[in-house]
This record gives sequence, structure tokens and C-alpha cells, in this order.
Amino acid sequence: MKVTDILETMDYGQAPESPQPALDWVAAHRGDFGLFIDGDFIKPKGRSSFKSHNPANKELLAHLCQAEQVDVDTAVAAARAAQGSWESIGGPARAKYLYAIARLVQKHARLFAVLETLDNGKPIRESRDIDVPLVARHFYFHAGAAQLIADEMPEYKALGVAGQVIPWNFPLLMLAWKIAPALAMGNTVVLKPAEYTSLSALLFAEICKEAGLPNGVVNILTGDGTVGEKIVTHTGIDKVAFTGSTAVGRHIRQAIAGQGKEITLELGGKSPYIVFDDADIDSAVEGLVDAIWLNQGQVCCAGSRLFVQEGVAEVFHRKLRARMDKLRMGDPLDKSIDIGAIVDPAQLDSIHRLVDEGLKEGGNSHVAAINCPEDGSFYPPTFISEVDPACRLMQEEIFGPVLVGTTFRTPTEAVALANNTRYGLAASIWTENINLALDIAPKIICGVAWINTTNQFDAAAGFGGRRESGFGREGGWEGLYAYARSIHQPSKKIKAISTKRIAEAVETNEVGIDRTPKLFIGGRQMRPDSGYSMPVYSSSGKQLGLVGQGNRKDIRNAVEAAHAARSWSKSTAHLRGQILYYIAENLSARREEFAGRIALMNGVNKKVAMGEVEQSIDRLFTYAAWADKYDGAAHGVPVRGMAIAMHEPVGIIGIFCSDRSPLLGLISILAPAIAMGNTCVIVPSEAYPLSATDLYQVLETSDLPAGVVNIVTATHSDVVDSLSGHMEVDALWYFGSDDHSASIERASVTNLKRTWVNNGLDRDWTDPKQGTGKVFLRQATEVKNIWIPYGE
Ligand code: NAI
Repeated sequence: MKVTDILETMDYGQAPESPQPALDWVAAHRGDFGLFIDGDFIKPKGRSSFKSHNPANKELLAHLCQAEQVDVDTAVAAARAAQGSWESIGGPARAKYLYAIARLVQKHARLFAVLETLDNGKPIRESRDIDVPLVARHFYFHAGAAQLIADEMPEYKALGVAGQVIPWNFPLLMLAWKIAPALAMGNTVVLKPAEYTSLSALLFAEICKEAGLPNGVVNILTGDGTVGEKIVTHTGIDKVAFTGSTAVGRHIRQAIAGQGKEITLELGGKSPYIVFDDADIDSAVEGLVDAIWLNQGQVCCAGSRLFVQEGVAEVFHRKLRARMDKLRMGDPLDKSIDIGAIVDPAQLDSIHRLVDEGLKEGGNSHVAAINCPEDGSFYPPTFISEVDPACRLMQEEIFGPVLVGTTFRTPTEAVALANNTRYGLAASIWTENINLALDIAPKIICGVAWINTTNQFDAAAGFGGRRESGFGREGGWEGLYAYARSIHQPSKKIKAISTKRIAEAVETNEVGIDRTPKLFIGGRQMRPDSGYSMPVYSSSGKQLGLVGQGNRKDIRNAVEAAHAARSWSKSTAHLRGQILYYIAENLSARREEFAGRIALMNGVNKKVAMGEVEQSIDRLFTYAAWADKYDGAAHGVPVRGMAIAMHEPVGIIGIFCSDRSPLLGLISILAPAIAMGNTCVIVPSEAYPLSATDLYQVLETSDLPAGVVNIVTATHSDVVDSLSGHMEVDALWYFGSDDHSASIERASVTNLKRTWVNNGLDRDWTDPKQGTGKVFLRQATEVKNIWIPYGE
């Protein structure tokens, strides 16, 4: 017998981890758990309970309590009562608690790992070596963040009470991603784990007690989706953080529209795994094992779409199939298995259904030639090649150990295939050519890109998606901002503008009234589709002139123009800065005319109007300055290499302008948007649109490429739904006087765009604390983390 034969037949034997300590812990609770509210486990009378099973052998693990509305009320009230003092004890004091939690997670690491594996079905190798260490790391990182918050985020405070709903694929890790930043910033939380996997959250509740965390800071409610819904829609909640399916994320976005809550959504994905012909093929095959078979593929950022360059496809696929046939599947508590159980029979059914249906559209399926245990919920590793990019298998999240793939010829084709999805979470790029890798990574629409590696996570590097993978980041400083509010946030309601009109009275002055400004679309002045104009009145009620009445057709044209101008995002930051300076220069040359118009429209005296023009010029200078200075970061993550956090433009931003300070309000949002490389569709102040229509003459002479800024004068309520529902628009900002916040948030679910609405609050653009600053830059950018391991 040769050595290679021995390696072929080598029997690893079994290396089972004992479930006993975890079962003992469950038994100590008599297998029946209550809710963790205000520092104690309670089991109110009359609550129904539901069962949690071990998916690997179907054995009953525990009974869990289904929370009811009154429990949600009590938990939210406890969190609210605790929040003030939790925030006011200060960052360093909070850091000590977070540090204590991190230590205790480490002290009970094995118990957590075994419990997680029993409850979820994931291999103990993963819960022990990936999930639990990352949980501890997350609390350590945020203990550090809390320590530094007063210096690093001096103008920010906590949002209040966070309602957090998490999924079952990484139960404890998702809990850590939610709770650690919230607590670091001074928020308190009400969290609901997924109904299949609540046990590690309940063990965590005990850890909170052991760490001496003040009562009410962390509250954990078990139950199904209806409990989740009661939490997120509760009026006592200030911030919603959700990880789970895109369908539920979308539902939550709609359910809380207009409630004034902050929200972050971490949703599904269908992430590309791209192998170029110069890649280290064996490493890429091994990486793929991690990408799609980690946690049985039940990973939101799983590399579930394989794209291999044609020249190496045959050899790559051959090696991949051979590797699949060597995967070991079985008892998740066995330390030498690769593939464990699917979380629940319902999820197993869903995988079967999606694959069976999908295969009807074509594809060549290879199922790993390995033994599949018969008792529990197991699904064999599967690779389906030759799948058409438009097919369901390529488009829908299967959330199981199923890889689909096709081939490509050129880098351009690889990018096109990668981006041919409604999602935008992650990407893996394999090539030995670093130039190629660094060229491709920014072109893929995603929140995290891994070069020659995959599924890397660290608390220092924010994680989150774009498009229908949701918005917001967890981890890093950006993750802390998701739980923070500027202390300068507007607090007063917008006052209605006087609507007095003096019939027939027409204002005449040196500005002239004989011109009906058109819309400004694609760099050209366009007549509105409707053929209608609307009058503009001065503050004294006299008619100042007419502007075009834009409608949904004009909005569509403007979005098309903004789309065509997307190459603006690739222009250099220096160029964008120069153009903003040029706009400022040209505005300055016409300052008298602009001031005159402002004075006439909103009745301020000439000096005040001139002040607004001067401030607008200054603001253009500010964002011209920022254009090449709002840098990303290079994170020292725990790989030999680094993670580069790039600031990317959001894309196309729809913007509704404020009536207050018609010119300054417009410039204050237009300038950061285009400085960061976005293109936009702007609907000016409804009452005072003439500063915007005057401005396009300035834009025309300032070298701004056509389509970067498009201006559609319109009645806000006429176009608000078409702009906020438009599938090509990536973000929507609303600063207008009518409170359209609810309808915008509701309409935004079409493509899950980021929204930034004023909730009817009045932003004072003349106050630099409210009218300018990094908050605008953060809204105008997405953070993409590109992981680059290096070394031979
Ligand atoms: P889900 O999105 O329904 O559940 C996630 C969490 O949301 C659970 O805690 C659930 O109780 C809660 N929930 C459900 N309905 C809710 C509502 N109306 N309001 C508030 N909370 C609610 O995910 P599910 O059904 O467990 O899995 C279905 C599919 O979702 C999977 O096949 C997979 O494709 C995807 N999924 C994606 C995850 C991700 O990390 N991206 C995680 C889990 C599931």
C-alpha cells in the first residue's frame, strides 16, 4: 500500500465533543426558559411556549416562552428606565462592563460553543473556532470604542432604546454584533433571537447578570416573528436593527415608516466568487469550501455564485468536485466533520424546493458523494454548473449548501455577472494579479470584498450591504454611528409658510419676470412633460414668475440622465473639488442677482439674502475641500494583510429641498452629494424654487458634466412617490416642508434604498452645526471593506 492510498482511505475516526455541560445547563433551567426582562428571568403566567430541537438528531432541547405584547411593553419600559443612567455613567464605565462580558464569554467559551452547535446544527469546529472567538472580539473591540467615545465622537449621543431582531444562522455572533455597539454608545436594548436558536441568547443573559450589568440594559424576549414585529413597531423604540431575510427586512421598513426611528438592515445575499485564470487554483478551491459550505451555506454573505474564467473552468470544476467528495458530513459535535445539520426541517424543505424548482430551468448538478445522515436535517453539498445568469438558481438566495456557477471570458464580463443580482453584500476575487483584483473589487456592488480569501470578519471592519442586502454597517466606527445621534440634530417642527396670495399682483424688479425657467435634465433645459407651469409667489403674496411643473415622466427622465452620468463617480476627487470651486466662483460672480432673488422670494432684507449667498459660496468651498479629504481607513485586521475601508458614492440620490434658505438649503445638500461622486435628481423648494432654477445657469458654465445634477421643479406631493419608489435611485433625502417622511420610507422598499428624512423637523442651514459636517458625507457615501491578505 502506498502512502497516497493511506491518505485516500485514512479514517479520521470520531472526535465527539460531549454535549453534557450544555445539557446540564438546560436541565438547570428545567428545560423551560422564561424571558429576560429588567435583569431577571420571568415566566409570566399563561404564556404559551414553543420547542427548540437539536436539528442533527431531532431531540427536544428546551421549551421557550412566547412573549406577548405586555412583555414587550415591560421590556421596553425597563430598557427606557435604564437608558439614562446607562448613558450618563460615561464611556469608560460602560467599557468596563463590555470588557467583563468579553472575559466571561471567553471563560464560558466551550459551553457557548457546544450549546450553539446543539441548537443550530453547525459544526463544533465552527462554533468553537469562529463564532465564539468573534463574539469575544466584538465585545473587546466595543469596550475599547466605549472608552474612546467621548474623545472620538464628542458631538454624538445615544439614540435611546434599540429593538433588535436576529436570525438563526449565527445566533450568538449576531447578538454580539447588535448588542455590543448599542451598549458601547449608551443605548439599552430589547433583543429577540430567532425562534429556532434562542438558547445561546439566554445563556448570554446569564452572563450579563454575572457581569453585573445594570438591570434593564439588556432585555431578551423569545418568540416568533410576531414578537419581532411587536418589538420593532413599539413606540418606545428609537432604533431598529434587523438581520434576516430580505422579505422580512422589507416588511419591517414598511411597518415602521414614518415613526421617526433609525433603522439598519442586514439582509440576504447571493455573493459572487470569481476565479480568474491566473488564480492559485487549489487555494481557490479550498476557499470555496469556506465560502459556500461554512455553516452549511446558511450564511448571508456565502459565496454562492461561482464564476470561473473559461480557460481554467474544466480543471477548477474537476478539483472542486473531487474536493466535495472528500467533505465529511455528520454529527455537528464531532470535531472532524465539515458539514453539520440544516437548522430546521422547514429550512431543509425550502432548500429542496428551491433546488428542485430551479433545476427545471437547467443546470448540471453534482451532489457530493458522501454519506448523508438519515436522522436529522441534512442536505448534501451540491454544485450546479452551467446555470444561466437569469435563472432562479442564480438569482434567489438558497441559504443552504448549494453552489451555482457559470463561466466567463473577460474581467468586464465577470463584473457584469457579479453585479447581475438584486443583492450587494459581499464578493470574493481570486487572482494572483493584484492589479486586476484591485481594479475589480471597487467595481462590484457590495459592502465587503475579499481578495484571495473569503468569509473574513473582524469587529474593526464594518460589515453590511448595498441594494437589497440592506443598509448600515455593523462593526468599526461606522457601526457606532448607527447607534448615535448628533447633538445638533434639529428638534423644532417646521413652521408652515404663509400662503397668502394677492390675485393678479405681479412683482417686477431688476431680476426680471419674463422667463419661465425650464427643468434641467441631462445638462439641458427641458420643458416639463405636463406642459404646465406653476406660479411662484413672493413672501408678500405677489406672483414672481412661473416654473415648470414636473411630473413622474420628468422624474424618470432625470433619473435616466443621472444614471447616464454615473462615470462621475470615477472622476478624480481633485476634479470634483475643482468643479465645486468653479461653481462657487461663478455663483460669486452673480451674488447680487442671487441675493436679490432670495430677498424677493422669502422677504428677507438684502443683507440677510447676501449673507445666504455668501454662506452658500462658503459651503461649496467646504465640500470642494472635503472632496479629496474624506478618506477611508486601513484596518489592522487579524490576517496577514489589511482591510481597506473605501468610501464609495451611494449612487443616484433623489433630493427634496427645504423651503428654509432656498439657496443655502439646496447647496448644503447638493455639494456633499456631488463631492462624494454621486449623481442626483433634485426637486427644489416647492415655495421658492427660483434659486434652483437660477443655479442651473451657474452649473452650465462650471464644467459640471451633463446629468450629474438634474433639477425638476414640481409640487413635492406629485413626485415624491415616483422618486422614492424608483428602482434606479439608491438613496432619498427629504428636507421639504410637508412631512412626506412616512410615504418616502414606505415607497423606498422597492429596492430598499437608503432614506434620510427630516420627520417634519426644521434644519437651520445657517447654523454650521446643522447645515454642514460629516453627517452629510456619511449619508453621501457607502463604506466598502476590501480585505487584502499578502505575503508568500
Ligand atoms: P426571517 O427573516 O423570517 O427571520 C429572521 C428573524 O426575524 C427571526 O428572529 C424572526 O423571528 C424574525 N421575524 C420574522 N418575521 C418578523 C416580522 N414581521 N417582524 C419582525 N421580526 C420578524 O428568516 P427565516 O424565515 O428564519 O429564514 C427564511 C430565509 O431568510 C432563509 O431561507 C434565508 O434565505 C433568509 N435568511 C437570511 C439571513 C441573513 O443573515 N441574511 C438570516 C436568516 C434567514
